[in-house]
Amino acid sequence: MRGKSLKRPSAETLYVALVAAAAVGVTLAVATPVPTTLRDFFNGGTQPNTLIEPLMTAQVCSNCHSYYDEHTEPYSLWSASMMGQASRDPIFHAALAVANQDASFAGEMCLRCHSPQGWSRGAVSADTSGASLEGEDLQGISCSACHRAVDPVYKPGTSPTRDQAILANLTTPMPTHSVHGTVEALAHNASFVWDPEDYRRGPYEITANPHRWVRSEYHRDPALCANCHEVSNPVYTKQPDGSYQLNALNTPHETLNKYDMFPVERTYSEWQNSTFGTQAVALAKNPNALPDDPDFGMNRFGGNDVNVRTCQDCHMPRTKGYGANPAQGAILRNDLGKHTFNGANTWVLRAVAQLYPEYETDLTEAGVNDSIQRSHEMLDAASDLELTFDGYTNLNARIINMTGHKLPTGYPEGRRMWINVKFFAMNDVLIAEYGAYNSDLAELTTADTKVYEAKMGLDAHASNASGKPIGESFHFVLNNQWLKDNRIPPIGFTNAAFASVGAAPVAVVYVDGQYWDDTAYPVPPAAVRAEVRVYHQTTTKEYIEFLRDQNTTNNAGTIAYDQWELFGKSPPALMDEKIIAVNPCGVDVNSDGVYPDERDFDSLLDYYWMTDMRADINHDGLVNGNDIISFIDRFAGAPCE
Ligand code: HEC
Ligand code: HEC
Ligand code: HEC
Ligand code: HEC
Ligand code: HEC
Repeated sequence: MRGKSLKRPSAETLYVALVAAAAVGVTLAVATPVPTTLRDFFNGGTQPNTLIEPLMTAQVCSNCHSYYDEHTEPYSLWSASMMGQASRDPIFHAALAVANQDASFAGEMCLRCHSPQGWSRGAVSADTSGASLEGEDLQGISCSACHRAVDPVYKPGTSPTRDQAILANLTTPMPTHSVHGTVEALAHNASFVWDPEDYRRGPYEITANPHRWVRSEYHRDPALCANCHEVSNPVYTKQPDGSYQLNALNTPHETLNKYDMFPVERTYSEWQNSTFGTQAVALAKNPNALPDDPDFGMNRFGGNDVNVRTCQDCHMPRTKGYGANPAQGAILRNDLGKHTFNGANTWVLRAVAQLYPEYETDLTEAGVNDSIQRSHEMLDAASDLELTFDGYTNLNARIINMTGHKLPTGYPEGRRMWINVKFFAMNDVLIAEYGAYNSDLAELTTADTKVYEAKMGLDAHASNASGKPIGESFHFVLNNQWLKDNRIPPIGFTNAAFASVGAAPVAVVYVDGQYWDDTAYPVPPAAVRAEVRVYHQTTTKEYIEFLRDQNTTNNAGTIAYDQWELFGKSPPALMDEKIIAVNPCGVDVNSDGVYPDERDFDSLLDYYWMTDMRADINHDGLVNGNDIISFIDRFAGAPCE
């Protein structure tokens, strides 16, 4: 199933090219990085070069976890996910180069999450540029990185007994806190505890004996995902006034508590402080499905249970199938978690397949297409759009967040969502557009519509420390301030809870319980129809140009930019679309879509005699002679009142 193609450059060749480019690039102005050290990026949990048996390459697992059904078994789905390719992602490499330029050794932090396998064997700490990563290190989040993970808080009765000794041997355990009545580690920044020996952990009691294994409840718990889907910058510490200041250098963060550090991504905390954090929510794909329908009992994210709660429920949708080749003794499961891990990215996988040979990535054309299709389905399921027309001059677009976190969530840089509204007059004539996007230039008109996004930047303190200007910036490791975050909160949102975890809305107000957002658009008088679309984009032009132009180290920024151009400039992905008939002046009295004409006048007179509110043309709550006058004014071309 894995073709051997040699036509593309291998990772090694690519890096030789990167290094060679670095050598010619030295004439560029070189900014001085903040002189941070490895110690500034230290975190608790298992440390590099301490495993008795190293993490295993995924190729080994593929021998049994790939040979039966590529639509259900872990390997093929995982390799076609962004997580399976996280350390080959060219956007990541471009951002990594800038991070290392901005703060020395910052790559220690980035690669701990993006290449945990390489980090575990010390290849990152030895060279935080990532240039010495090779082969299996480039597998991104490898099978073993997740399946050797130990719950950092021992739970008597449910945790595997061998965990007690593993946890007792840790030199730096992560701090803990109590949430919803359970003690958990303040996991983030890949603060994994790994089993030093190769005991593979998963949700099942297994009957086959293919390798050493232990059943682990931790693998059905979002706390596993919290290791990485919580990103905090450890070089900053929160001050009593709410600002963030640089720590004394060459020293680990004092508390290692993520809530004392600058919050970059808070997907896990967003989830934990939503309704999903405490209970399942029924989100049926089709609530009206009958038992014979294929959608019956399915949730909107593709799993075979209408109730969803965990990250796994939505991002590893459950199905019936085998987790490994049955010839090896795997048994048929009804609750098999598919390793799809799809989210919002609809193009970077193509770039990875373009840049690396298939024998390294195992990305097939069909696998890539299927994965991207699944991401489109996730984006489609992520929100609902409701349109209301007040019968007069206002169209309201309400976007309802149906995910388990903010919409959009996660990586804030370069990602955004927006509303596009088009008003049409008779004969399909476009008369007004809001939030227009020019795909040739990748330019969005932002001033006249709602754009959902997060923006960060540097305050005076960070500017002083780094020599970069105050204000909005894409400098990931230097940013110490949130300037905007109007991303839509999830079900169960409260301001107090979100503020306590560094995820408060910024420069916008959402009231407690609000998991939707409304935007009003003025309806032009001549409009008969409005078309409303909601789009998502992962890599904006502003961001990719920043990655290209700020890079003074290597050609990772140019490589990323070229891929971005090649694959359509991160084409906006459609999330919702709806059409609504509008009749702004109430003059299409007989609602036949043609107005105002004599037939409308006939209807008006009928309604007038019946005192039917449809004759209330001027919207004053009364049916009287003034409505007839208003109608005649409009008939003569006067605008709506
Ligand atoms: C020789 C074949 C073989 C190889 C190689 C193999 N596995 Fe397995 N593995 C199996 C079988 C069979 C099962 C049982 C599946 C079942 O019963 O559903 C299994 C189960 C598992 C489970 C589930 C454990 C549980 O308790 O739920 C995990 C996790 C796992 N393997 C991880 C891995 C990883 C990681 C690798 C590579 C480092 C790997 N396996 C390599 C055959 C193999
Ligand atoms: C990001 C973490 C992560 C990675 C990477 C990962 N898994 Fe899993 N895996 C899980 C979780 C979580 C579950 C349990 C899902 C559930 O039941 O909710 C699981 C379940 C399994 C199971 C049990 C059967 C099933 O499919 O649910 C097997 C076998 C398995 N994984 C093997 C693998 C192999 C092989 C790889 C690499 C090709 C891999 N996993 C990569 C997190 C991961
Ligand atoms: C705690 C783990 C963690 C750390 C530390 C981390 N990242 Fe990430 N990164 C993630 C996760 C998780 C995502 C995916 C989030 C999403 O899709 O919204 C991500 C996404 C990204 C992306 C987007 C990739 C794309 O294709 O759009 C870039 C770029 C990136 N990270 C760069 C970095 C850099 C540079 C650093 C270091 C300064 C870093 N990351 C540190 C976990 C981490
Ligand atoms: C070792 C760190 C790590 C762990 C653990 C981890 N992730 Fe990720 N995840 C990442 C990184 C890094 C990315 C971004 C990869 C990229 O875009 O290059 C990512 C991306 C994703 C995406 C976005 C994919 C897209 O299309 O944009 C989803 C969804 C996701 N992870 C789900 C999960 C779930 C669910 C779990 C827990 C079962 C989990 N992750 C555990 C590091 C991790
Ligand atoms: C109720 C279902 C649901 C739950 C629960 C859920 N997600 Fe998501 N998630 C989605 C949907 C739908 C999307 C696509 C829309 C978007 O980008 O926000 C998504 C997107 C993502 C992305 C991609 C963001 C990007 O910009 O690339 C990441 C990463 C992610 N989720 C991680 C997680 C993690 C980690 C958890 C648990 C802490 C989780 N999700 C819980 C439904 C869910």
